[in-house]
Amino acid sequence: MTRLWGGRFSGRTDALVHRFNASIDFDVRLYDEDITGSIAWAEALADAELLTGEERDTLLAGLEQVRTEFNDGEFVVKPDDEDIHSAVERRLTELVGPVGGKLHTGRSRNDQVATDFRLWIMRACEHLDEKLIELQRALIGSAEAQLNLPMPGYTHLQHAQPVTWGHWALSHFWPLARDRERLAKVRRSAAVLPLGAAALAGTAFPIDRERLADRLGFAAITPNSLDAVSDRDFAAEFLFTAALLGIHLSRLSEQLILFSSSEFGFVRLDDGYSTGSSIMPQKKNPDTLELTRGKSGRLLGHLTGFLATLKGLPSGYDKDLQEDKEPVFDAFDTLDIALPVMSGLIRTLEVRLDRLAAQLEAGLLATELADYLVRRGLPFREAHHLVGQVVRLAEERDVAMTDLAAVDLQAISPLFGADVTAVLTVEAALAARSAPGGTSPDALARQLNAARQAAGLL
Ligand code: ARG
Repeated sequence: MTRLWGGRFSGRTDALVHRFNASIDFDVRLYDEDITGSIAWAEALADAELLTGEERDTLLAGLEQVRTEFNDGEFVVKPDDEDIHSAVERRLTELVGPVGGKLHTGRSRNDQVATDFRLWIMRACEHLDEKLIELQRALIGSAEAQLNLPMPGYTHLQHAQPVTWGHWALSHFWPLARDRERLAKVRRSAAVLPLGAAALAGTAFPIDRERLADRLGFAAITPNSLDAVSDRDFAAEFLFTAALLGIHLSRLSEQLILFSSSEFGFVRLDDGYSTGSSIMPQKKNPDTLELTRGKSGRLLGHLTGFLATLKGLPSGYDKDLQEDKEPVFDAFDTLDIALPVMSGLIRTLEVRLDRLAAQLEAGLLATELADYLVRRGLPFREAHHLVGQVVRLAEERDVAMTDLAAVDLQAISPLFGADVTAVLTVEAALAARSAPGGTSPDALARQLNAARQAAGLL
């Protein structure tokens, strides 16, 4: 036996064309799914009385043996193996004889590859979900350790209002919670069984597709055989989810790169998660974070590249679709290592309390003064304007806003009472933000609880 489709050909395939056409180098990763799919298919053929019970058992035993060879690293890919489907069938037939040739009855590589790939993506979503939970738990750990530690909050990367470390850490937790929801949604999109669509028009044999779906752990069957073999939207959804997750990781990375710089100095990376310079002995570089930030570009590229591949494809299987696997595999591999690296980095991250404290300057409290005037009945716009004058006065005198005397404030607005100094503290600013989702200790305790629940810790 040579090519699966060799019958109508008399000339041999050009060697370079064979290499160009072949996908075995990368789709070998689908071997387990391919064999699982074939086992279910052999059972379905026997149910439809296209195989005897004995033939079915021979095929099942042969397929399990092929699986063992793969698992043990003993499977030998032959030069003529074009893809994983031909390789498995070739080896099966070597092992069990001509009955191996019955397995492909009523099936095509077109519905086969779509089935294998969907199964692979379903498993990939489950696997990445576990890695995401790990990272979520690392962020929860960091939040818990410094829950109410005040730090400057930023907008436009300028000091804005005080927040807490716990609030900041959890702000990177919730995007991951949404990434997990997206992964679950991708898994649902993938869990629709194409097998039984055959080449394009549907199988000509009485196959119970619902039963087949059950056997393989799919939630439903594809409603249109032509659609089943033509589309890879589930793979595009996977790549989008991976790209967005990559973007979330890049934001966290960028923030920690800034925070670990000499200028901020808010955190120190553990030795295990940073690298040195070959020439400058003092350097401790955040390479891991830079790589994570950089790899988000590659994830984004996989998404846009693959969408471009899908664009304008006519219905039916087209060989363009073979381009679905490498971006998906690479996106998976990228995240499969980036996620645990980030988890470890967060778990070992040292927060430098003195450096955070040193940045808690009075300007962060300007909003408190405005809110104070609002509580005395002034429209916020006017209050904002008056506090602007306070800020300017402090600047003119080259003192902190909190160092101005009450009489100075009263000269700007008689609404400033003697109690105004009480609101001008970081603690008061934090405590005031107690609406759900805010940075006050109460609100944060509730948020932390919700995060623990979302990460399966409660
Ligand atoms: N290796 C192919 C792929 O990955 C399998 C399907 C081939 N089907 C075909 N009609 N040539 O898409």
